[in-house]
Amino acid sequence: MAARSVFRSGLFNGRVAIVTGGATGIGKAITAELLQLGCRVVIASRKSERLEAAVDELSQLIISSSSASITAVCCNIRHEDQVRNMVASTLRQYGRIDYLVNNGGGQFSSPAANMSLKGWNAVIDTNLTGTFLCCREVYNEWMKDHGGTIVNIIADMWRGFPGMAHTGAARAAVENLTKSLAIEWASSGVRINSIAPGSIFSKTAMENYKDLGPMMFQMAVPCIPAKRLGFPEEISPAVCFLLSPAASFISGATLKVDAGQSLYDSVWEIPDHSAWPAPPEGENVCALREVMKELKPKL
Ligand SMILES: NC(=O)c1ccc[n+]([C@@H]2O[C@H](COP(=O)([O-])OP(=O)(O)OC[C@H]3O[C@@H](n4cnc5c(N)ncnc54)[C@H](OP(=O)(O)O)[C@@H]3O)[C@@H](O)[C@H]2O)c1
Repeated sequence: MAARSVFRSGLFNGRVAIVTGGATGIGKAITAELLQLGCRVVIASRKSERLEAAVDELSQLIISSSSASITAVCCNIRHEDQVRNMVASTLRQYGRIDYLVNNGGGQFSSPAANMSLKGWNAVIDTNLTGTFLCCREVYNEWMKDHGGTIVNIIADMWRGFPGMAHTGAARAAVENLTKSLAIEWASSGVRINSIAPGSIFSKTAMENYKDLGPMMFQMAVPCIPAKRLGFPEEISPAVCFLLSPAASFISGATLKVDAGQSLYDSVWEIPDHSAWPAPPEGENVCALREVMKELKPKL
C-alpha cells in the first residue's frame, strides 16, 4: 500500500507519465503516488508477470472518481525498437506524454578487476544507453513540440562506486547527460533533472544481489547519518516534486535523497598496506618520522 501523498489530490489530473521499472521497488512507489495524484501511468519493464501483478494491485487502489489509470508495456530499455514501441503505444493510447521517469535499471556487485566485458556492457547499456534512448524517443516523438518533464534516477556515485564501478560510471554519465539535455531541450519547454537515492530498501532491490543482498543493505546502515535505510516511499515525493509545477524553475539539477549518506562514510574497506609509492625524501618526511617516533609509545 502506498504512503499517503503530501501533495494535493488531483495535482496530475489529465497528465500522462511513463515510469520505467514502474512495477517494483522505487518505481512502484513513484507509480502509486502518481496514480494517487490523478496521473495516467504507463509502467514499462522486461518481465510481463511483474507488470501484470503491479497493474492488478495498483489499479485496485484507484478511487472511482479519479482520472488516474495504469497500463503496462513490456520494454527492455536496452533495445531501441522496444523503446520506440513503448513511446508509440503510449501516444496511441493516451495521445500525450507529459512525464518520463527513467527509473528502470540494475547492476551487480563485483570488483572492477573481475568484471567481464559482457557484464560491464550490460550495465552501461541499461543504466546509461537505456536512459538515453528513452529520453531521445520521448523528446522526438512528443516533448520537442509540446514540452514535458523528465526525471532520471541515478545513484550515490559522488565518491566513485567501489564494488560497482560500472554503475558508478553509468550514473555519473547520466548526471552529465541530464545537464546537456537541460540545455539542448530548454527551448522546447522540457525540464530534466536527476535524483540520486542513497540505500533504499525494497524486497526486489535486495533480491537483485542474491545472497549478498541482506548483508549489503545491513552493512550500509552505519554509513547513513539517519542510521536507517531509506524506503521507496521516501524517493517518490521527490520525483513528484520535480515533475510538479513547484519545480518550474529547476532543470539540469540533481537532488540527493540520501539522508546525507554521500557526505559521510563508505562501506568499502581499504586494508592496511605498504604498496603506495614512497613520498619524496626531504625535511618534511624526516620531521614526520621524528614525530611518529615520539608518538608511537603513546599510541
Ligand atoms: N535501491 C537502492 O538502494 C538504489 C539506490 C540508487 C539507485 N537505485 C536505482 O533505482 C532504480 C530502481 O531500483 P529499485 O531499488 O527499485 O530496484 P528494483 O525493484 O529491482 O527495480 C529495478 C526495476 O528496473 C527494471 N529493469 C531492470 N532492467 C531493465 C531493462 N533492461 N529494461 C527495463 N526495465 C528494467 C526492473 O524490472 P524488470 O525486471 O521487469 O525489467 C525493475 O522493475 C534502479 O535503476 C536502481 O539501480 C536503487
